[in-house]
Amino acid sequence: MNEYETTQKRGERLAKKISFLGCGVHRFEKTGRTQLEVLIRHGLNPWSRLLDIGCGALNGGYWAMHFLDPGCYFGIEPNKEMFEAGAEIIPEPDLFATKSPRFDHNDQYDFSVFGVEFDFFYAHPRPQIESCGCPDFLVDVLIFSQQKIRSLCDDYR
Ligand SMILES: C[S@@+](CC[C@H](N)C(=O)[O-])C[C@H]1O[C@@H](n2cnc3c(N)ncnc32)[C@H](O)[C@@H]1O
Repeated sequence: MNEYETTQKRGERLAKKISFLGCGVHRFEKTGRTQLEVLIRHGLNPWSRLLDIGCGALNGGYWAMHFLDPGCYFGIEPNKEMFEAGAEIIPEPDLFATKSPRFDHNDQYDFSVFGVEFDFFYAHPRPQIESCGCPDFLVDVLIFSQQKIRSLCDDYR
């Protein structure tokens, strides 16, 4: 991987490897950057513990990991194929070693697997709402984050 390759280019490379990226390829980088912007606007600090629900191919997670202190980023992604392809292509080779993110692949909204209390929950954005079975509080989080992402994406147009 070229360290100076933009995440947009990395996303385009990823799209050649897997059919579903978790977001559109044409706005891959903007979608990821915007997620961090939303979180910062809502009070995320470098020392906040963030749970990224449905972290996919780490499009948004990439930016969050760079911002957060080591040990503060947690991701859940049931689609292991997408996750592994993203983990190979999106982060710089030393990002995981530097930031010590933790991941789990359950699809049960079981956040206890990490054994920590989170300051922020983030989910981007739709499939979880429609698939039901997720806790009521999470539906609120998902709808909120979906609205924020949409309005901030409009800023970029
Ligand atoms: C719209 S994608 C977002 C991907 C990623 N956050 C990004 O920034 O591109 C939604 C993700 O939620 C994941 N997902 C679906 N059901 C889930 C569940 N029960 N728990 C956690 N993630 C789930 C999907 O596999 C998918 O990767």
